[in-house]
Amino acid sequence: MDVRQTESLPLIFVPDLNAVEQSDEHRHIFSRHFEVPSVPSIGEAQRSIVESRMKSFNQNNTPDVYAGSAATGELNLRSYLTAVSQQVIGIRSTAYEFAGASGGSSFVTQWFDTRTPGMLDSRDLFGSDEGWAEFREFVAQAATANPEVIPESVTELQDSWLDSVNFDAQGNVTVEFDDYTIAPGSAGSIVVTVPSANIIPLLSPFGLMARTAGMNPMPRIPADLLGSARPGEPAQTTQEPVAETPQPRNIDCNKTKCVALTFDDGPGPKTGKLLDELEKKDAAATFFVVGPNAKTRPELIERMIAEGHEVGNHTWSHRSLPALSPAQVRSEIDRTNDAISAAIDQPATLLRPPYGARNATTDRLAQAPVILWDVDPLDWKHRNTEKVIDAAVSQTKPGSIVLMHDIHSSTVAAVPEILSRLKAKGYTFVTVTELLGQDKLKSGKTYSRAPLPPTASSKTGEKK
Ligand code: NI
Repeated sequence: MDVRQTESLPLIFVPDLNAVEQSDEHRHIFSRHFEVPSVPSIGEAQRSIVESRMKSFNQNNTPDVYAGSAATGELNLRSYLTAVSQQVIGIRSTAYEFAGASGGSSFVTQWFDTRTPGMLDSRDLFGSDEGWAEFREFVAQAATANPEVIPESVTELQDSWLDSVNFDAQGNVTVEFDDYTIAPGSAGSIVVTVPSANIIPLLSPFGLMARTAGMNPMPRIPADLLGSARPGEPAQTTQEPVAETPQPRNIDCNKTKCVALTFDDGPGPKTGKLLDELEKKDAAATFFVVGPNAKTRPELIERMIAEGHEVGNHTWSHRSLPALSPAQVRSEIDRTNDAISAAIDQPATLLRPPYGARNATTDRLAQAPVILWDVDPLDWKHRNTEKVIDAAVSQTKPGSIVLMHDIHSSTVAAVPEILSRLKAKGYTFVTVTELLGQDKLKSGKTYSRAPLPPTASSKTGEKK
């Protein structure tokens, strides 16, 4: 069912719109919400969803439930723009929560009038209580026509169930129901459509503007205006599109102390700065990108390749892959590869599964080497530059793969010092493929680090 949404940023009417990612790698929590500094109520309303969802997830999944075993719970929160105009912004947020035994999806759409502070909801799209009541009648009728819907649930339709109302391309209204509200969980998510002609007379002036904004495609800022339009990001250089990977450097990690720094979940607003720092120290790294961010910031993907870094696939939705069907796993990988290919004319050759969560089936479906790590400075948890520096430097051994996240400014701030200290210890910074060796990497096999170089291991042997 068509629920209009876009992940393409930035937009003409909200040039300062940012997607903000948060993750808890150990407990399988990932969220991606929107902030618009020029419209503070958007960030406030979006954060309130994230905070309340995380709170309830934490209550249902106390950390010790999974202690010592592979985590089985998962919380995945994501936001999408469904309507954008000069005065109207509609943001649909989805939540997938899996708590041990059962999982389900829920939806909410928040509306904003950029000229008025505060958040608006479904009710504000309608002109009067009578209009709202009539709308509920139409929804109940349309829902009853769906054989999956439990008829009794529709006679007791609750207002709180109608909290995700959007408009499709024809201006019809779509109402998304949370799992288990009006249908059995096995039916999946139910979307009900109410025809445009029935709805128009019921809408408020804001609702009419929201309908127009929801129907129209969202205009994007032309790429050449991007540099000046996005404060806080380095101005975009108009480079030639990069069609091919630079020649691999001649580094033999069997003879040299090598380390592969890897950065997940981006590219984000701080990634440009990180690339500047890596360039200053002539250090290569590997970026495991999530699809929507690659699509949003293709110029950074181009720059990574142009500057000798490697780009890997970190899936589209950052869902824990073992929980998905084979078709969903492939779609997570393929959509992201499409976004990467759009930027650099080639898909990623490496996969890092979100949370490092994998099994034999997902490894096979990866159709690429599966890259894990042996050094985890817990940068997503500490958000503390000193701690990240100390952990990364003290835990790195020759051949290590270090896990970090370029979405955190504390991590980006830690990188110059990590590079200096590891360089002082004699390390060379290489991509994952350089570290492991192109000819040794095998599709469907997992890698957490390179084998210790023969020189290093024989030395250890001598000392015994
Ligand atoms: Ni991740």
